[in-house]
Amino acid sequence: MNSFSELQRSLAATERVFEVLATEADKPDRVDARDAPAVVHEVRFEGVGFEYNEGRPVVRDLDMVVAGGSVVALVGRSGAGKTTVTDLVARFHDPTQGRILVNGTDIRGYRLRTYRDLLALVQQDVFLFDGSVRDNIAYGRHSATAAEVENAARRANAHDFIMALPDGYETVVGERGVRLSGGQQQRLAIARAFLASPQILILDEATSNLDTESEQLIQAAMAELLAGRTTFVIAHRLSTVRRADLILLLDGGRVVERGTHDELMAARGAYHGMVVRQMASDEADAGGGLR
Ligand SMILES: Nc1ncnc2c1ncn2[C@@H]1O[C@H](COP(=O)(O)OP(=O)(O)OP(=O)(O)O)[C@@H](O)[C@H]1O
Ligand SMILES: [Mg+2]
Repeated sequence: MNSFSELQRSLAATERVFEVLATEADKPDRVDARDAPAVVHEVRFEGVGFEYNEGRPVVRDLDMVVAGGSVVALVGRSGAGKTTVTDLVARFHDPTQGRILVNGTDIRGYRLRTYRDLLALVQQDVFLFDGSVRDNIAYGRHSATAAEVENAARRANAHDFIMALPDGYETVVGERGVRLSGGQQQRLAIARAFLASPQILILDEATSNLDTESEQLIQAAMAELLAGRTTFVIAHRLSTVRRADLILLLDGGRVVERGTHDELMAARGAYHGMVVRQMASDEADAGGGLR
């Protein structure tokens, strides 16, 4: 089962996905395209630029080398280009300048379907369809056994709340089913990602405020999910960027600062200012800030 196509189909209600399907239709695989590798050792951006409309670049001159298994955090104000960068990794769009390589090969040289199989996305707005908890977790991998689904749910810190639902894993959720809290929905999305076991993980961290317990459960599950996977995270939480191997602060599609949390704090630039402002303020989300 192609988990990514499944995801796209299931998300087909959202505008964004029509765009994805159209883009995909526009890009047949090259005749010499190869299967994507089983293991990602490196993701490399070389002079990557992207413009939705000609003459209006929203990503400019982006260079980065990401070792397999490491975590890149993208931060910056709204409109800075964070989502666009992750969309390029997912090949929802191809760069209009430069190239992105995985294990030294331009990702356009891989069969798209096999490349997408390397990826999983955990989005801000979790999509649950009308179906059982089990189906919702397994929808990237319908062949998963009950034990695999349960194992993924345990790792996502979701098993206990699922067992407390009226019919456990068979409980119907979604519009017509049991309403889950934001934190519970996110943990189902994390369980889904565990089951998919991607080489490359794209995480658009939720900005919503969760209760402290949910927040801790999610943070713990997320930390485990990230381990050993090449991760691009659009980060809103200080705890996430602290853990990242590389932080890119974007502004107007450009990297204005890069480094680890400690390096950027020592540099006392814009990132430092953002963190200090955030710590000084109890406001949960200040548009591209951290919390
Ligand atoms: N489909 C599109 N067509 C044209 N312009 C777009 C499209 N999507 C995004 N943009 C523009 O590209 C720029 C970068 O957008 P992007 O969504 O990558 O920002 P972001 O950093 O993810 O912002 P946010 O924090 O609000 O999610 C913005 O100026 C945005 O208006
Ligand atoms: Mg975004």
